[in-house]
Amino acid sequence: MKQDMILILDLGSGENPRLAREIRAMGVYTEIHPHDISAGELAALPNVKGIILNGGPNRVVDGVEIDASEAVYTSGLPIWAVDHKGSAPLAAEGAEREKAIRDFVFGTCQAEANWNMDNFIADQVELIRRQVGDKKVLLALSGGVDSSVVAALLIRAIGDQLTCVHVNHGLLRKGEPEQVVRVFREEMGANLIYVDAVDRFLDKLAGVSDPERKRKIIGAEFIRVFEEEARKLEGISFLGQGTIYPDIIESGTKTVKAVKSHHNVGGLPEDLKFELVEPLKMLFKDEVRACGKALGLPDSMVYRQPFPGPGLGVRCLGAITRDRLEAVRESDAILREEFDKNGLAGKVWQYFTAIPDLKSVGVREGRRADEWCVIIRAVNTVDAMTATVEDVPFPLLQHITGRITREVKGVNRVLFDLTPKPTGTIEWE
Ligand code: XMP
Repeated sequence: MKQDMILILDLGSGENPRLAREIRAMGVYTEIHPHDISAGELAALPNVKGIILNGGPNRVVDGVEIDASEAVYTSGLPIWAVDHKGSAPLAAEGAEREKAIRDFVFGTCQAEANWNMDNFIADQVELIRRQVGDKKVLLALSGGVDSSVVAALLIRAIGDQLTCVHVNHGLLRKGEPEQVVRVFREEMGANLIYVDAVDRFLDKLAGVSDPERKRKIIGAEFIRVFEEEARKLEGISFLGQGTIYPDIIESGTKTVKAVKSHHNVGGLPEDLKFELVEPLKMLFKDEVRACGKALGLPDSMVYRQPFPGPGLGVRCLGAITRDRLEAVRESDAILREEFDKNGLAGKVWQYFTAIPDLKSVGVREGRRADEWCVIIRAVNTVDAMTATVEDVPFPLLQHITGRITREVKGVNRVLFDLTPKPTGTIEWE
């Protein structure tokens, strides 16, 4: 194993992620684990140089003050109890704080600053091989950042013991299914099953206008298609998942209640419950992107803007029809191309088009034409809880409007959404 590790045990501090990132910024890899880690789990973690017991306001769980397990105290490793029995050496901010951390990490623990992406990848490759042995792994590869990076890492580790399944539900952006096939099957040599489920999804969604029902149908159908593919394969023991650390935080820990439940490919039936391989689960989003770059994935995949699981399904507003779905896909492609050309792609957090179920009168080739309108949304945010609208230059908006009304069939108007969140959400439904 190439890198040293400082282990942070969660004793109810909301600051664990911050502390983990501070130590990583000093060049030392960290992992956060529950307070009751067992002796076996502790022994399985490679190169642990020291343990921080990070207590905090959530230390009392169900009326009982929690403490680290006996295995921790008898491990013989250096231990720093940050709020243990009332002392709080990390309460300070700035240079005192940094020195306290450095003294423990480099002084007491003698850890080396050897955390970088190449070492992380080398260690994960070894850990994945150890976990999987000669067995087979299945992965749902959507083409999003997390599943793409986990696929690339698994390919590096176990090659054709991995089978990827890419379900094209017809709600992806222009060119995305083709890119997944090109990058993974053709360039990386992956075992990739491409499932064209477009008709199946659109048939299920026909006439359904309620957004939550649309989301449920898309989620449930995805599980069904994936399950069918999994049943056709033999000898699969593991399921790869692109779980990342923020997913774990949002799902709740033993000391912090869930914000929302995390769903990757949850919901598979009992007889298809595989053991999970989740090599990114200790990484933050920017580190996942760095990992993807180090594994050779293209920037367009690694720096992809957030895209909702139900995809264009929640941007083709109301009941989805094929003509409006194509119009939203084409207009979104034009918007992305123009933002890219004009230096906005790397700057704006999320930008897309939506198409309401609304026609208005217009003129085309001298004749009255009732056609759809398209809405442009471009927002910036830190956590997606609130958002501000990007001040897109007016001439660029006019240029994009011209292109959309000329190039996208059935669209005669383009609107720009000026609404921050709140009161508008980022998506339209
Ligand atoms: P809203 O519309 O709630 O969106 O302001 C906040 C962020 O969440 C994304 N979003 C979703 N992502 N499944 C997802 O995976 C969904 O159903 C979904 N709905 C919204 C949205 O794109 C934005 O980044």
